[in-house]
Amino acid sequence: MIRKGSDSLSGTGRTALLILAALIMGFILSGCKGEDEEAAELPEEESLVTIGFSQIGSESDWRMASTKSVQDAFLAEDGYSLIFNDGQQKQENQIKAIREFIDQDVDYILLDPCVETGWDSALLEAKEAGIPVIVYDREVKVSDESLYTAWMGSDFYLEGQRACKWLYEYLKRIKHSGEVNIVDIQGTLGSSAQMGRTKALEDAVREYPGWNLLDQATGEFTTSKGKEVMEDMLIKHGGNIDIVYCENDNEAYGAIEAIENAGYRIGPDIGGYEMLIMSFDSTREGLRLTEEEKIAVNTECSPLYGPRLRSMIEALRAGKEVPFKTFIEEGQFSAFTGIREVSADGTDYAVTIVNDALIEEREY
Ligand code: AHR
Repeated sequence: MIRKGSDSLSGTGRTALLILAALIMGFILSGCKGEDEEAAELPEEESLVTIGFSQIGSESDWRMASTKSVQDAFLAEDGYSLIFNDGQQKQENQIKAIREFIDQDVDYILLDPCVETGWDSALLEAKEAGIPVIVYDREVKVSDESLYTAWMGSDFYLEGQRACKWLYEYLKRIKHSGEVNIVDIQGTLGSSAQMGRTKALEDAVREYPGWNLLDQATGEFTTSKGKEVMEDMLIKHGGNIDIVYCENDNEAYGAIEAIENAGYRIGPDIGGYEMLIMSFDSTREGLRLTEEEKIAVNTECSPLYGPRLRSMIEALRAGKEVPFKTFIEEGQFSAFTGIREVSADGTDYAVTIVNDALIEEREY
C-alpha cells in the first residue's frame, strides 16, 4: 500500500533531484562559458606584439624595481609578449640577447645598456632587420644615431650637479670654512650613470676651493662592493674622510655598514667628526636612511620606466613620431630643513624634506 506521505515524500525527492541536476548543469555550463570568455579575452599568440627586453642585471634595488616596472607594463592580457633577458652585468650577454631577439623576429627591442660604447654592430644588425630599438635609462654612444629609434632616461650629470650644489649650500649654511675631504664610490665604470655623476663631482671639486677628492674607486652599484671599497678607503684615509659620495643607494648601504663597523660616526656634523654620506636613487630604504640622517642628501633616479616605454611603443605602433631624446624629471630629498631648493644649470630645483608618509608611499 502506498501511503500518502510516502507519495508526497517521493515528489519532494524528485523535485530536489531536478533542482540539483539543474544546478550541476548550470555550474558546468557557466564553467565552460567562463573558459570560453577567458580564451576570447586573451589575444591569440600570433597577434601579440613581441618585445625583446635586454636588462643589465640585478645589481641594485633600483635595477630590480626597473625590471618589475617593465614586466608589469607589457602583459599578455594587454596584447604583449615580453621576452626578458638578464645580461648579468656583461655587455657580451646583452649583445647576444639582441642577436637572439633579431633571430626571433621580435617587433621591438628594449635596451638598458650596461656601458655606453660598443653597441654599433648589434644595433646595425637590428636596424637592418627592421626592428626598432628603444634605449632607456643609460645611453649608448654610437657613430650613427639612426641605429636606434629613441632614448629616454635620466640626466646623470645634472643629478650629480644637484647633489654637489646641495653640498655647497650645506657647507655655507653650517659655516664650514675649512677644507672638505671627499671620497667617491663610483658606479659601474663606463656606464652613463657613473660617468655623469663622477664628472659632476670632479667639476665641482675643480670649481669650489677647499674641496679635495681624496680617492675614487668603483663600487659597481652593489652593496657588497660598496662596503669593500669603503673598507679599503677607511684603511687608507681613516678619519680624514669628511664626505662619502656614493653613486647609488646600494653602495651607500654598504658604505654605512663599513663605516659603522670601523667605529666611525655618520651624520651631517662634519666639523664634529661625523662622515656625511651622499647618495642617488632615493629608494624606499635609501629614503629611510635619509630620514635617519645617515644619508644627508639623496638625489632621485627613477626606475619606473614601464608605463613610459609602453606609451612610446603605443605611439610608434600608431605611426606617431616620438621624441628622439627624453629626459625624465627627478627629485631630491634630505632631512635637513635649511635647504629647500638648489640651483643647477640655470634652474631652481626643489629639495623635499623626507617624512614617513613619503617613504610609505614610495613605489620602490
Ligand atoms: O642606471 C641607473 C643606475 O643603475 C642606478 O643609479 C643604479 O642603482 C643602477 O644599478
